[in-house]
Amino acid sequence: MLQRLKALFGKTSAAPLQTLESDNIPQHIAIIMDGNGRWAKRRGLPRMAGHHSGMKAVKRITMAADRVGVKYLTLYAFSTENWKRPKAEVEFLMKLPQEFLAMEIKDLMEKNVRIRIMGYKEDLPSHTLKAVEDAVALTSGNTGLVLTFALNYGSRKEMIEAMKSIGRDIRDGKLDPDEIDVPDVESRLLSTGLPDPDLLIRTSGELRLSNFMLWQLAYSEMWFTDVYWPEFSDQHFYEAVREYQRRARRYGGL
Ligand code: IPE
Ligand code: IPE
Ligand code: MG
Repeated sequence: MLQRLKALFGKTSAAPLQTLESDNIPQHIAIIMDGNGRWAKRRGLPRMAGHHSGMKAVKRITMAADRVGVKYLTLYAFSTENWKRPKAEVEFLMKLPQEFLAMEIKDLMEKNVRIRIMGYKEDLPSHTLKAVEDAVALTSGNTGLVLTFALNYGSRKEMIEAMKSIGRDIRDGKLDPDEIDVPDVESRLLSTGLPDPDLLIRTSGELRLSNFMLWQLAYSEMWFTDVYWPEFSDQHFYEAVREYQRRARRYGGL
């Protein structure tokens, strides 16, 4: 609430870019981009206007992450549970990736950003899938920031699929159940190849994970803000990183 008031009055306590310690930047930041609908409602606009404005925040925060030297940025864009929303809203959301990419792919290429998708592609409409797969292919040689869109992503489904795969390998004699270790699980998750997030950000004041990266967030630092996603600024982002830099990560040790 306090943060929302500060944001409304333009007096954020946000850390400027210059105050960040360049040798302690989180390698991987994951964001639950929430509050598009409420942002719109507060302005008397349809929810779709909030999603549209949220797209601008995606661009803004991608550039900010790149600027501070984050290596991996993972954005929760659509969950396996979001199909429960009204058909018109789901259809609108499924058009956003192509709109975003058509508009921004040139800048992303210039910044050497590599785009990846984490989610169940088979349920996506073909126009959505084509747009994202084209962007993944186009940027596959880029060596800068890895920007992963969690699209039709759900952690429980991800874990169930990993368990099924482990079960099949045991049945086929390829895996000894007594020997199952962390890499055996991680190699079967959708996040294979991504390090665990160092920092999780959730906007909009909700204090929950909503089925996002339940395995991968085991030791991540968490930062929540009341600010709605469309109004999440560079300054808020730096503030989250600054707060991360004040934390002592112990991983169960001393
Ligand atoms: C986040 O904003 C975007 C998606 C979940 C796709 P919401 O649409 O959840 O906005 P609120 O939470 O209803 O305000
Ligand atoms: C989480 O937000 C999913 C995304 C941001 C894509 P939701 O708005 O769907 O989460 P709940 O329903 O409030 O838990
Ligand atoms: Mg929401």
